[in-house]
Amino acid sequence: MSLSDFSDSFADSGLEEVEMKPVKLEPPGFGGSVMRHVQNHNTQQLQKSTSLSRVQECEEERSSNAPSSGRSGMSMLDQGQSPSDDTGLSSTSHLCPAPICRQFWKAGNYNDGTKANISIQNGNNYLHVHPMFLHSNATSHKWAFGALAELLDNAVDEVQNGATFVNVDKTINPRDGSAALLIQDDGGGMEPEGMRRCMSFGFSDKKEKTAIGRYGNGFKTSTMRLGADVIVFSCHLKDGVMTQSIGLLSYTFLMRMGYDRIVVPMVDYKLNASTGTMEVFHCHDKEHFKSNLSMLMQWSPYSSEADLLQQFEDIGSHGTKVIIYNLWCNDSGNVELDFDSDPEVDIRINGDKRKVDTLPAWKSTNEQHIANRLQYSLRAYLSILYLRMPENFSIILRGQIVEHHNIADELKFIEYILYRPQIGGFIEGQVVTTIGFLKEAPLLNIHGFNVYHKNRLILPFWPVVSYADSRGRGVVGVLEANFIEPIHNKQDFERTSLFQKLEVRLKEMTWEYW
Ligand SMILES: Nc1ncnc2c1ncn2[C@@H]1O[C@H](COP(=O)(O)OP(=O)(O)O)[C@@H](O)[C@H]1O
Ligand SMILES: [Mg+2]
Repeated sequence: MSLSDFSDSFADSGLEEVEMKPVKLEPPGFGGSVMRHVQNHNTQQLQKSTSLSRVQECEEERSSNAPSSGRSGMSMLDQGQSPSDDTGLSSTSHLCPAPICRQFWKAGNYNDGTKANISIQNGNNYLHVHPMFLHSNATSHKWAFGALAELLDNAVDEVQNGATFVNVDKTINPRDGSAALLIQDDGGGMEPEGMRRCMSFGFSDKKEKTAIGRYGNGFKTSTMRLGADVIVFSCHLKDGVMTQSIGLLSYTFLMRMGYDRIVVPMVDYKLNASTGTMEVFHCHDKEHFKSNLSMLMQWSPYSSEADLLQQFEDIGSHGTKVIIYNLWCNDSGNVELDFDSDPEVDIRINGDKRKVDTLPAWKSTNEQHIANRLQYSLRAYLSILYLRMPENFSIILRGQIVEHHNIADELKFIEYILYRPQIGGFIEGQVVTTIGFLKEAPLLNIHGFNVYHKNRLILPFWPVVSYADSRGRGVVGVLEANFIEPIHNKQDFERTSLFQKLEVRLKEMTWEYW
């Protein structure tokens, strides 16, 4: 489809548009709303679903003057404005209509012209987000498994809403037969507004102290780091009201169509309790729904409404299914996630098996140790990702439960050392480190600390003392340091003075233990 085909009816169609928190750069009091910018738009003919009888239901008429945040507080998504709103500065970008590059580390190259811009309308300025931001944001995850862990975190955070499992597996994109990544849980799922927040930036529902997520960015960074496109199916049940929502965050769609901001096609369905059937749930109007569905059918792996809805069949009454497709390739041109080397039990990172520098006789013991395997074997990494596996919760990888593994359980000559970091005479927290020798020591040239934060592994085998220093060889520790904060990709900590003090203390601890 060419850009010029994409005409006329878009403004009515009301695609969801992801916004940053509205940043007012002008004094308040001007009224008005976030505008919509794609001027040439072709609403594809809606293919009729034959297999499902879904009654279209009209919700309240929305005022065309309503501000975009009008629906349930601070929604980040443009709720559909009239064509006359489209008086701003930005327009569709023609800079990147070509097929996007398949290699993640090259897919962010773009000309200077394509940047997030600010639209001015009716006196209000809103910060818009260019699709390229999806890629830049995702580069915070250097390591593909670090990205995948974010999606596991979201499932684990759902334990408090009843999640009993998260299933990670390969699935097939029916559009072209290529491999796609599936992450599915039976947690509380997301109601339509929750789904919009999930796809937006910086919104986290998680208020509980125990929740792993907090920055409201994990879903976006992780999915966009693993593949160019993601579709989410979520089913939510509350007070007898069941909803099903589908959302698509597609870098391919946005780049190919030359959008200058992030729009997210979404559709919702709601259970009609009297008829027992799922019905279209119009957040806006009928046209909006049709247009969104049409986008989903064109750009997702599923080309009909029936195929899309089929995806809910194995979700049940609550839960979330995330399918990442058009998975990124590495610099050698191979799909980064390797589903084939160990197809029965594992997902690996292509070409990431590191050489272990040791005596030939010790090579295999070293290579097989979890400290090395976790770098390329998802099963190994997931086995230590959480310090404690929540009760009645399992991680299932390729149909088989991931055995939980606590490194502390395989140490010998164990000691427990209490540390209370202080700043200005005040105790800032406390942590007990379990320290010991790996049972294979001294054959292993592995050492370091597994540092968890709120049950989640942040630093695996953090080598606080240098490998060149033979003191400390084979000494490993495990600790849960909740008094320091992880950085956004959850693969390191903020470099605060508390973190530096911890580093110094762990160094001393290693030598004292030795
Ligand atoms: N698997 C899931 N089940 C239910 N809700 C989810 C799931 N994944 C994401 N969400 C919702 O989307 C929001 C944003 O997710 P994310 O970007 O990972 O940020 P965070 O986890 O820091 O809140 C979450 O706060 C949660 O409300
Ligand atoms: Mg998260």
